[in-house]
Amino acid sequence: MSPFQLTRTLPEDATEAALRADVQGGLTAQPKTLPPKWFYDAYGSELFEQITELPEYYPTRAEREILLARSAEIASATGARTLVELGSGSSDKTRHLLDELPGLHTYVPVDVSESALTQAGRALVAERPSLSVHALIADFTARLALPPTPGPRLVAFLGGTIGNLLPAERARFLASVRALLAPGDALLLGTDLVKDESELVAAYDDAAGVTADFNKNVLTVVNRELGADFDPEAFDHVALWDAEREWIEMRLRSRTVQTVKIPAVDLAVDFGAGEELRTEVSAKFREAGVRDELGTAGLELTHWWTDTRGRFALSLSTAR
Ligand code: SAH
Ligand code: AVI
Repeated sequence: MSPFQLTRTLPEDATEAALRADVQGGLTAQPKTLPPKWFYDAYGSELFEQITELPEYYPTRAEREILLARSAEIASATGARTLVELGSGSSDKTRHLLDELPGLHTYVPVDVSESALTQAGRALVAERPSLSVHALIADFTARLALPPTPGPRLVAFLGGTIGNLLPAERARFLASVRALLAPGDALLLGTDLVKDESELVAAYDDAAGVTADFNKNVLTVVNRELGADFDPEAFDHVALWDAEREWIEMRLRSRTVQTVKIPAVDLAVDFGAGEELRTEVSAKFREAGVRDELGTAGLELTHWWTDTRGRFALSLSTAR
């Protein structure tokens, strides 16, 4: 087997059918919504990497600090021989973990972004010739067929991406992750923590406007894939904190009354002036809530680490 293998778990037309279904359902709903996974074409993945370097966007730096401090402990607690990473993106922070896992046999990055997977996978095998990388283009919310690799298996879900799932989706997702774990396997989960509203909103509404471009990129994806005629400049980027649900919501607010045509789903979508389309939630967590949600999925939290400023947490859990 070559050290870098890329497997597409769904044919491209299935991805397009999923986008059509999400657009058809989400843009005829009240309020209008689109799921965040459609941000990540090649340009969206690149914009996300730019976001991670913004002065306002602290989660990547905070999680990196924890990984640098705790990877050796994670390695000795898990003894992982296979590392599966869901929503792996550039796999940049993962390198700290790879550095500390001497017995690692295979790294399995899983992502919907083919460009991110290819770039990251090729770079990793060049840097680490003894590591086998088996990348999967897949939706982590669907049932995953993982390659048969040696255990123990460590499943990592970093970046706080779990917060981009709605509570019911999170519960289903955690139960499906639990089903991937055999005795001795573990889940390493990154969760952004509840904090001051001004710090949170700034992280999702940066001064340079990169997050606004990232948000509007979903419209460009729908234009390209479904032949729609969204004008991204006819929408404003909105980021707000929902204190009750403890999540950031990103929305696109229509500047005017307008109708957008989406030929591939035979839709003409009317927007009122000021009407908002929700494009992402980014939930923020507390330790007790994470422990409970993991517990409900049959997982037991064994370690909880935060960065020195208490902004972000990494937790390790095992099957109960
Ligand atoms: N883990 C990286 C990247 C986070 S960005 C980090 O911590 O920096 C979120 C990543 O998840 C992107 O690479 C995106 O393409 C991927 N992603 C989003 N929704 C997904 C889904 N449903 N299935 C698989 N990958 C998904
Ligand atoms: C990938 N995910 C954890 C990011 C977040 O912070 O929710 C996506 C993002 N959205 C806006 N900025 C970054």
